[in-house]
Amino acid sequence: MNAVELFSRFGKGRIRPLSMITCYDATFAAIAASSEVDVLLVGDSLANVMLGLPRTSEIGMPEMIHHTRAVRRGAPLACVVADLPYGADSSTAQAVVHSQALVAAGADAVKLEGCGEEVIAAIVAEGIAVVGHLGLLPQTAVSLRQVGRSPEDRALVLDQARRVQAAGACALVLEHIPSDLGKDVTEMLSIPTVGIGAGNACAGQVLVLHDLLGLSERQPPFAPARVDLRGIVTEALAGYHRDVSQGRFPPPAA
Ligand code: KIV
Repeated sequence: MNAVELFSRFGKGRIRPLSMITCYDATFAAIAASSEVDVLLVGDSLANVMLGLPRTSEIGMPEMIHHTRAVRRGAPLACVVADLPYGADSSTAQAVVHSQALVAAGADAVKLEGCGEEVIAAIVAEGIAVVGHLGLLPQTAVSLRQVGRSPEDRALVLDQARRVQAAGACALVLEHIPSDLGKDVTEMLSIPTVGIGAGNACAGQVLVLHDLLGLSERQPPFAPARVDLRGIVTEALAGYHRDVSQGRFPPPAA
């Protein structure tokens, strides 16, 4: 099933909510694929969680291609969406070339932030599935505050959502907006919305893997950790160091 077919099952009249998780390497891609999560997103959040950079706008196509290839190697059969990084859609022609490069690296669809209708239409015209992204847009945001609170901002998000769908996107990520706005957008569109901090009325949910696993140093309020992997890993490493430094590992030959 291609990405457009997959996402269409989660739009209006959907079978159930869709699950999406970010993924950046082959090991976690293989684990995520065996967990039956519906979609793996090679998000440009890899700048923050994998590369230690303060802003997602600090990475480009080389990093996105590198990590998309790794995820595809780990999960050959998964539906993989890859982010177009900041600046990669600065012109329609560039956006198409960069989308083709991400597909060649293993992506089934590309995701782009903002309401670039012409860009979305041009990529879709080349036969590449596009996922939109509205609400908080980390590539350009000046603050991490919730978006869409005032009547004007709310109307803007609704209008942009309508235009992203009309341009041909097959799904729309909604980040950090009020739940009732997430509900209104979801009810208005026929393509599925995938929320991250956008309430439970969205057609699906996406989280950053490191938040879900408790690896992040700062946990967003809308992304509770399901396991304290940072604590577990720290304890395992401290135990290893203790045993090596005290001569207990490896154990003496029997
Ligand atoms: O890059 C990313 O992790 C994302 C999610 C926040 C949806 O775009």
